[in-house]
Amino acid sequence: MSTYTVGYFVGSLARASINRKLALALTRLAPTELQMREIPIGELPLYSYDYDAAFPPVARALKDAIAAVDAVLFVTPEYNRSIPGALKNAIDWASRPYGQNSFTRKPSAVIGTSPGKIGTAVGQQHLRSILAFCNSPLMNAIEAYIQFEKGLITDEGEVTNSSTADFLRNFMTEFHGFISRVYTVLPRGGT
Ligand SMILES: Cc1cc2nc3c(=O)[nH]c(=O)nc-3n(C[C@H](O)[C@H](O)[C@H](O)COP(=O)(O)O)c2cc1C
Repeated sequence: MSTYTVGYFVGSLARASINRKLALALTRLAPTELQMREIPIGELPLYSYDYDAAFPPVARALKDAIAAVDAVLFVTPEYNRSIPGALKNAIDWASRPYGQNSFTRKPSAVIGTSPGKIGTAVGQQHLRSILAFCNSPLMNAIEAYIQFEKGLITDEGEVTNSSTADFLRNFMTEFHGFISRVYTVLPRGGT
């Protein structure tokens, strides 16, 4: 089985983010053929096309980080039934300047957790629309809407519920298979 690097975005900037805990858990549960690394978004200024002529170093670093990975994973809360502004801002940066969209042909997957029963489902639908527009081949299934209950994931990223751990492990195994299939159909460097 091929090995791939996966850059993950945490959509929350909160120190105690439950989605950051989820990202840590996914990193622990991923197959060894997926090498996980975070792509940080918290220091980006708000995007404007005034920057297109000369991206600041932090935005350049974002685009370089995406270019350096084989796939991207979004681990995000739902804010007001959509995605957090910080994450949308990062996607806007990465999608520009025009013609240099970092997500083109970059395989992606989406997951999130919330204390609410629908577990970020509506926010994820918005994110799926955005990624479709950004021409990212997105894993359609399995979907993962994780309802967070206190203690579900420790600060160290250990999942305390075994069926949730199995589900998340399977999600990452499916993502590995998906990345592999994308690169079979769309070899890198192809047109
Ligand atoms: C501005 C804001 C909007 C929110 N909107 C939603 C929402 O639409 N759906 C939902 O399930 N939870 C919503 N929540 C609650 C979040 O799910 C909860 O704060 C969760 O901890 C966020 O994930 P995080 O800890 O990773 O930041 C909202 C929270 C904030 C701060």
